[in-house]
Amino acid sequence: MSDAPRITESAVAEAVDAALAAVASAADSAALKAARSAHAGEASPLAQLNAAIRDLPGSEKAAAGKLVGQARARVAEAFTARQEQLAAEEEQARLAAEAVDVTAIAPRRRLGARHPLTMLMEEMADIFVGMGWEVGEGPEVDHEWFIFDALNTDPDHPARSEQDTLYLSPTQRHLALRSHTSTVQIRSLLSRPLPVYVVAPGKVFRRDELDATHTPVFHQIEGIAIDRGLTMAHLRGTLEHLARAMFGPEARIRLRPNFFPFTEPSAEMDVWHPTAKGGPRWIEWGGCGMVDPNVLRSAGVDPAEYQGFAFGMGIERTLQFRNGLSDMRDMVEGDVRFSQQFGMVV
Ligand code: DAH
Repeated sequence: MSDAPRITESAVAEAVDAALAAVASAADSAALKAARSAHAGEASPLAQLNAAIRDLPGSEKAAAGKLVGQARARVAEAFTARQEQLAAEEEQARLAAEAVDVTAIAPRRRLGARHPLTMLMEEMADIFVGMGWEVGEGPEVDHEWFIFDALNTDPDHPARSEQDTLYLSPTQRHLALRSHTSTVQIRSLLSRPLPVYVVAPGKVFRRDELDATHTPVFHQIEGIAIDRGLTMAHLRGTLEHLARAMFGPEARIRLRPNFFPFTEPSAEMDVWHPTAKGGPRWIEWGGCGMVDPNVLRSAGVDPAEYQGFAFGMGIERTLQFRNGLSDMRDMVEGDVRFSQQFGMVV
């Protein structure tokens, strides 16, 4: 027991001072816990002083016990007070860190807007709905029969080659990504009672490189009207109405002879665009004609009783010349700044 500390007032005071200094400098509860074990734990100087009491002569025990006991109580109290203070501070800091400013302005969610091509397709379809037509549709992957055969297109027609049309493998299934919306002509005739007045906007696919005037995926709007006694005059009047609705009262159309397998006679349609960029002029807009009797027969319609016309034009091309856009790639690349030019809030 020779190395047991001597219980003197200065030894006790020194242990207390060291403990209080450690309490004061503990910056958080973890540091305080470490200080508590160093200055009030079993191996601490105060604990050793306390243990030394039992070796004292009986006459000194009471005074020493009081001295050490008071010192330990004081130190314990200081630890408890500091612990409470630190806990309160830490709680405050946690609350501050988790605080939510309920008055803050929330960031606006970008919901997106419809694409100018979609808007244009709907606008064109609506013009026909206004004339009492219906909007029809067909699948983007279709059987070759709907894309070509039923449309009076010979097996050796260049459009059928794998150079132009994207076939699905195995090719024996005769499925392809439709290369035009004319497929909907047949589907409309097969699925509706006559007379039929249908427009069909939709996606089409061709083996084309993406450049300023081509894209391998694009859109067309197709129209077919089959009724008793329809003539080329009805075709003209209908397309002229479309042209005026889209390009203003001064717009006109003109028809130039052409060939399409599914129409006879066939024509290329130009539109007089009064507000074209660079001045008013004729612009090639689409194909049209009187539906070939063979097409009507493919759909089980008697050409002696029913006749009609059909037409088809590209949506990208229409948007391009209507809005004076020089590069078709801007339409397909998905940069929101393109849509924003059209006033869309994206
Ligand atoms: N399907 C033709 C094309 O993609 C466009 C077309 C021409 C549609 C004449 C018609 C039509 O309905 O009568 O080039």
